Amino acid sequence: MSSVMPQPQTAPIVACTISRDVQNFDLLIEDMETVLGESWGDLGFGEVLAFLRQPESDAMEFFALAMDKEDEDNLVLMSEIITHAKERNIKVILIAEDVTPASLHSLLRNGADEFVPYPLPEGELAQAIERIRAPEIPVVTQQAAPILQSGSQKNGAVLAVHGLAGGTGATTLAVNLAWELATVAGDTSPSVCLLDFDLQFGAVSTFLDLPRRDVVYEMLSDTESMDEESFAQSLLTYQDKMEVLTAPADMLPLDLISPEDIGRVIAMARSHFDYVVIDMPSTLVQWSETVLQEAHVYFATLELDMRSAQNTLRFKRALQSEELPVEKLRYAVNRAPKFTDLSGKTRIKRMSENLDISIELQLPDGGKPVSQGGDHGLPLAMTAPKNPLRKEIAKLAASIHQLNDDQAKAA
Ligand SMILES: Nc1ncnc2c1ncn2[C@@H]1O[C@H](COP(=O)(O)OP(=O)(O)OP(=O)(O)O)[C@@H](O)[C@H]1O
Ligand SMILES: [Mg+2]
Repeated sequence: MSSVMPQPQTAPIVACTISRDVQNFDLLIEDMETVLGESWGDLGFGEVLAFLRQPESDAMEFFALAMDKEDEDNLVLMSEIITHAKERNIKVILIAEDVTPASLHSLLRNGADEFVPYPLPEGELAQAIERIRAPEIPVVTQQAAPILQSGSQKNGAVLAVHGLAGGTGATTLAVNLAWELATVAGDTSPSVCLLDFDLQFGAVSTFLDLPRRDVVYEMLSDTESMDEESFAQSLLTYQDKMEVLTAPADMLPLDLISPEDIGRVIAMARSHFDYVVIDMPSTLVQWSETVLQEAHVYFATLELDMRSAQNTLRFKRALQSEELPVEKLRYAVNRAPKFTDLSGKTRIKRMSENLDISIELQLPDGGKPVSQGGDHGLPLAMTAPKNPLRKEIAKLAASIHQLNDDQAKAA
């Protein structure tokens, strides 16, 4: 158990027990230690509401609210704790010893997520924690093609993401960045179109659980006759928040598409959306240059390993030999070492010196919840809103949007 005050160098506190006196629940202490090691704290009933106003409570995943017969007089305060926790997206597990069913019922109705009796049966707390950690699967709204206004003259910003080595998180960044932008300002969020240009192996459809469709192939293979309507037909609306062009159902030979085709699709998307986010294939193709020229920012994802380092050198050389605008590149190290990992920081510094690149973005390892979210077809904001990777991408989206907004106002 740790104090709930922030402690540098140690694991962040992600859970707290709440009780009159935690020593009355020694089995709970044991089980919390088994599941969470040091990354949990302990609060008295009277301390919780003040704690929820502190920034340290941001990282909190759940409370284990432990009570016995004597605490039944305090039901109002406990209900209040549950309500406030829910408002902050913190789950609540009730641990109860000799509490009447009526009290339990009222607390569960108030929003407590799980109930485990005390003394804790073997493994029950761990299972309850696993259940509250499993992503809630929201109902996915029916996808439909959007209606695009003809003659729209938006001039959307183009953000491309290119993995410099396979599996370095390009699609994860593209999908989540698109989603964060599409939800950055509630009802007044900008419009976003996500284009999966990884035409053969594109995984955007998997990460968002959208079907791959033949109309995309048709649209891409004849962009000359593409109009607003046929472009709209090739898009799918995701959760009412953004539009997505998935990769086509059949593998499209990458060289079947010309730079002109890609140019037309980007132009069409830009005229209808505030942001166009593009997931690029790792391979350089004849239209890579088109996207680089069109992009306002071109993210290149890599990891701290030899494979990424060598690919980065080759990639940079290829662009430089064609005199392409390398200054648009923003290198993003994925699965970056933790803030507290000093040797990791040195490795990043050395890599950026050796490759002569500036690494502006570091994306933390978000662990299993990241691939689990992808498997469920949902952005991280929905399955693991407090995941460190999600937080970093949300920050990036907010800063891009702020910058864009400022520029729009200055213009
Ligand atoms: N920061 C991270 N923390 C944890 N898991 C991650 C992180 N970034 C990516 N992943 C996981 O790694 C896998 C590969 O990521 P992703 O598909 O986004 O990479 P990619 O560069 O698009 O790969 P590809 O070369 O196949 O297109 C996915 O399962 C994803 O969930
Ligand atoms: Mg990918």
